[in-house]
Amino acid sequence: MREEWAKSQRLNVVTLYQKIKEVDPEIYSLIIQELNRLRENLELIASENVVSTAVLEAAASVLTNKYAEGYPNARWYGGCSYVDKVEEIARERARKLFRAEHANVQPHSGTQANMAVYFAVLKPGDTILALDIASGGHLSHGHSKNFSGMIYNVVRYGVDPESNLIDYENVRELAKKHKPKIIVAGHSAYPRILDFEKFRQIGDEVSAYVMADIAHIAGLVIAGLHPNPCTAGIDFVTSTTHKTLRGARGGIILTSNKHAKLIDVSVFPGIQGGPLLHIIAAKAVAFKEASRPEFIEYQRQIVANAKKLASEFDKKGYRVITGGTDNHLLLLDLYSTYGITGKDASFWLEAANITVNKNLIPYDKLSPFVTSGIRIGTPAVTTRGMKEEEMIIIVDLIDRVLRSKGDEKVIAEVREEVLELLKNFPLYPEIGDE
Ligand SMILES: Cc1ncc(COP(=O)(O)O)c(C=O)c1O
Repeated sequence: MREEWAKSQRLNVVTLYQKIKEVDPEIYSLIIQELNRLRENLELIASENVVSTAVLEAAASVLTNKYAEGYPNARWYGGCSYVDKVEEIARERARKLFRAEHANVQPHSGTQANMAVYFAVLKPGDTILALDIASGGHLSHGHSKNFSGMIYNVVRYGVDPESNLIDYENVRELAKKHKPKIIVAGHSAYPRILDFEKFRQIGDEVSAYVMADIAHIAGLVIAGLHPNPCTAGIDFVTSTTHKTLRGARGGIILTSNKHAKLIDVSVFPGIQGGPLLHIIAAKAVAFKEASRPEFIEYQRQIVANAKKLASEFDKKGYRVITGGTDNHLLLLDLYSTYGITGKDASFWLEAANITVNKNLIPYDKLSPFVTSGIRIGTPAVTTRGMKEEEMIIIVDLIDRVLRSKGDEKVIAEVREEVLELLKNFPLYPEIGDE
């Protein structure tokens, strides 16, 4: 089946990577295997996506050669006339997309964007108030093994035990009690809308900065499907560029003119050296793609697909955390209903060519290495062109694997069906096949 499937996808020989093949066959072979893995798997990890070939080309461009410490027209090195323009364009596009006064496009990652904000306004020992990890927060929001949890005093808000929604009154009480210097609004695994205006109000009541980390939902924000923190008076907005936004792997920070200098100095020379201009170019290309009307339709489909997955799982008796989703992801509690751990579920599904991640659920009694749940996201399958009807099929496939508790025969059958389904959604046909 694998052979036949591969044949059906064969377009022409691989047109990229010819030099890598010659110089380093070992790495070439792994790149091709990863390309095939992407093609042959249903990618449902909420934080992943597959970028356009234009973004890939920019990321692989000659701009990787250039050192350009500093900012456009204020660099430490000569020869920056073209990369200055690239960075200016990226900044301008980011400002426009998010309706922000200032954009810094240099952070190498989402975590470094957060680090730059913390370093800009906090001193060691200062208090951060952030969503706890089991309720959907991110490592860089104060996990004890992350720099953020080591350097700062972290106070956590969670979600309501019944509704599993953020309890803003609880955020307010904690803010009043602990007087944080910064309140973080943002998540890696929360399926509902964030009320940035409420976070702003609470921040004002206790004179705290507010940072919104929209790493996951940036694409939805651009498309107007989620409130925009940049227009809600939030001091610092950080994001990755590679999730719903569908750009090259990296980070950005959006802020007001008032905080612009503070942020720029914190990124460079504060926490980074030379910017990755090839990645900044790839971010710029992704921003251009995100400014097109098709992008709004694409984001709508991401949300529609996630809602469809949630309602189909609900119909089949699964416990969908918060009862559904407003964004691109959903969380399933498998343990309380079926006694299945997230670890087992993700392992079985991977064997069936379905990629998800194990995930803590609110008030999880299992360890983060085991977990009661899985997180499922729709950006990558939506990029491949899937719509609601495919979501019904996907739920059926996942359900069969889980109900069989990882039965090998069922896994093998489902894997064949996944390959059959993916035949209709080719990935990177322009790269060709070996
Ligand atoms: C909310 C949030 N912030 C920050 C990050 C960190 O991004 P990166 O992996 O680029 O450091 C993530 C990544 O998953 C995230 O979900």
